[in-house]
Amino acid sequence: MIDTPATPLNQEELQALLEQLAKEAPRCFGEGRVASYIPALAEVEPDQFGIAVCHADGRVQCAGAASTPFSIQSISKVHALVLAMQRLTPEEIWSRVGREPSGQAFNSIVQLEVENGIPRNPFINAGALMVSDMLTSRLVMPQHTLREQVRRLAATPTIDFDERVARSEMDHKARNAALAYLMQAYGNIHSDVELVLDTYFHYCALAMNCVELAKSFAFLANRGVNPNDGTRVFSEIHTRQMNALLLTCGLYDAAGDFAWRVGLPGKSGVGGGIVAILPRRMSICVWSPRLDSYGNSIAGRHALEGLVSGLRFTPM
Ligand code: DON
Repeated sequence: MIDTPATPLNQEELQALLEQLAKEAPRCFGEGRVASYIPALAEVEPDQFGIAVCHADGRVQCAGAASTPFSIQSISKVHALVLAMQRLTPEEIWSRVGREPSGQAFNSIVQLEVENGIPRNPFINAGALMVSDMLTSRLVMPQHTLREQVRRLAATPTIDFDERVARSEMDHKARNAALAYLMQAYGNIHSDVELVLDTYFHYCALAMNCVELAKSFAFLANRGVNPNDGTRVFSEIHTRQMNALLLTCGLYDAAGDFAWRVGLPGKSGVGGGIVAILPRRMSICVWSPRLDSYGNSIAGRHALEGLVSGLRFTPM
């Protein structure tokens, strides 16, 4: 028997689903804790939840604390890679960073020495530091350029860095500094390491809310065109490649489990945000600060599972 395709939810049904997910989120508030290795993040009120979707035509729907800004942390690794893929040749990028899942924690150092200072992928910390080095070497104002890009993608000119978070990361930089200096020892970092760290920490310290984040990822659900202003960000090939990388590497050593449960390309951050892409339909951002042991939002992942089943649509 052949299944007839399910009809997508209409606007009211999707709104009801988002509100139901926001209502159910507190069930997860007993588990996990906020990231504390960056002291500025430890001060965030843990029991919050927001969700927003940006449709491929630019319409936005949301529920819960979708307008509350939070630290996007590793989600910025995607924005940084977009900038690199727009400006550098594939050879310039992929000769210095891999495209395979690491199977290790996002800030692990063991693999980096075994693999001669070449990070497994651009989403683990070592890989994102490498991308930050590429941008620091190539751009006159790498922080300004990324912020402008994110503002354009989200059609929100007020998005900015949280300087307190950036400073807090710099004050507790030991592990990231170790990764960057190790890569420098292998000749795989070209700019001044302290400058690269400053760029990377500022990227992580962008403060955005769920609506802005969903909007800034909508081009990945729209074949590379930003529906918020009609501009092409990525070619269709780059879009497919980025979504593939998000599916295999976006949630670190929990990428397999996330694909099993949610089945969408996604990217998490230790601020509690997760962004996911339903290709050709919508980008989604969920946020809730309590994290599991992999550094991924517990209520966020749970809500994405609920969203995917509630959409009556099987992505794969
Ligand atoms: O460098 C760090 O450790 C943080 N600024 C970012 C890590 C992160 O968000 C991992 N994501 N789940």
